[in-house]
Amino acid sequence: MIELRGITKSFGSLQVLKDIDLDIGHKEIVSIVGPSGAGKTTLLQIMGTLDKPDNGTLHIDRVDVERLNENELARFRNLHIGFVFQFHQLLPEFTALENVMIPAYIAGLKQKQAEARAHELLDFMGLADRATHKPNELSGGEKQRVAVARALVNHPAVVLADEPSGSLDTQNKAELHQLFFHLRDTFDQTFVIVTHDEELARLTDRTIHMVDGRIEQTTHPASQPQT
Ligand SMILES: Nc1ncnc2c1ncn2[C@@H]1O[C@H](COP(=O)(O)OP(=O)(O)O)[C@@H](O)[C@H]1O
Ligand SMILES: [Mg+2]
Repeated sequence: MIELRGITKSFGSLQVLKDIDLDIGHKEIVSIVGPSGAGKTTLLQIMGTLDKPDNGTLHIDRVDVERLNENELARFRNLHIGFVFQFHQLLPEFTALENVMIPAYIAGLKQKQAEARAHELLDFMGLADRATHKPNELSGGEKQRVAVARALVNHPAVVLADEPSGSLDTQNKAELHQLFFHLRDTFDQTFVIVTHDEELARLTDRTIHMVDGRIEQTTHPASQPQT
C-alpha cells in the first residue's frame, strides 16, 4: 500500500532521514517509535505527501506520487490519505459536524451528502449528540475522535497519525487505540501511527524503531526482534 525506497531528507546541513526503505501492506497497522528528533514526523509527512524527500521514491496504492502535479497531489491527498495530529487541529469556529464535513466538501460532495457522511461517522465514533458542539465545548477525547472522523470522511485507504493519543488521559487513550483496530477491521484501512505509547506499539502488527534518521530495527509482537 505504501512503498518507500531510498528516501533521504535534509534540513540545511542536518540530514534527518538517511536512506529509508519501507513497505507497508494493505490493512496493516504499523507503529513508528523512537527518540525525539529521530525523524518520525518528517517520515510521516513525506508518506503523507505533505513534504517532499530529497531522494528516493514513494508509491501509495501503486501511484508514483512524484509524477503528480500540485493540483493532482492535493486531490490525491484529499481522497486517499487521512491525517490525525497530536493536537486535534479542529477549526474552533466550526461545529464538530462542520469540521468533519470540510474535507468532504473539498472532495466535491454536495452539502447533503457531506452532512450525511459526517453524521454517519460521528455516530460511529459515539459522538452523535455532540455534532453541533464547537471544539471548546468538547473534552480532549471527544475532540480527538472528531479529528479521527474528519480524517476518515473521504474513505482514505491510508490513515497517518502523529502521536494521536499524546494529549489524552489513560481512558481516552485506550479507547482511541481500540478505535484504530476497529476501523481497520471495519473499513480495511491501513494505519501508520507515530507513538511514544509502548502499549499501543505492542498492539500493532509491526513496530518500526527509528534512531537518528534510520530504521534501526523492526519488531513484531510475539516474536523476536528482526532487522
Ligand atoms: N522544517 C524543519 N526545518 C528544520 N529542521 C527541521 C524541520 N523539521 C524537522 N526538523 C529537524 O529534523 C529533526 C527530526 O525532526 P522530526 O522528524 O520532527 O523528529 P521526531 O518526530 O522523531 O521527533 C529534528 O532535529 C528537527 O529539529
Ligand atoms: Mg514528531
